[in-house]
Amino acid sequence: MTRVTFIQADGRSETFAAKAGDTLLDVALDNGVDGIKGQCGGGCSCCTCHCWIRTPWFEHLIVPHQDELDLLEFAWGRAENSRLACQVPLTDALDGMEIEVPEQQS
Ligand code: FES
Repeated sequence: MTRVTFIQADGRSETFAAKAGDTLLDVALDNGVDGIKGQCGGGCSCCTCHCWIRTPWFEHLIVPHQDELDLLEFAWGRAENSRLACQVPLTDALDGMEIEVPEQQS
C-alpha cells in the first residue's frame, strides 16, 4: 500500500491509499483529484496530467522515456520535478509521496 498526497495550488491537500502498480493518474482519477484531467486516458499524448513531484520522491521515480520528456515541453509551469502522472507507476518505496497539482493544465 502506498499513500499519496495531492496538494493543490491553494494549499488544500488530500491523501489516498493506492496499490503498487497503479499509476499516479489512476489514483487521481479514482479519487476525483481536481486539476488532473487525464484527457488522453494515459496515452502520453495530452499533458493534462502534468504534476510536480516533491523531493525526495522525485529522485526515486523511474526514468522518464523520451515521449514523456517531449510532451512535458508543452506543460504549463514545467519544472525540473515535472512528470506526467500517467507515466508514473507507484511502488511501495514511494509511500508518503507528495504531488503538487499545477493551477492550470495545458
Ligand atoms: S493522461 Fe494524457 S498525457 Fe497523461
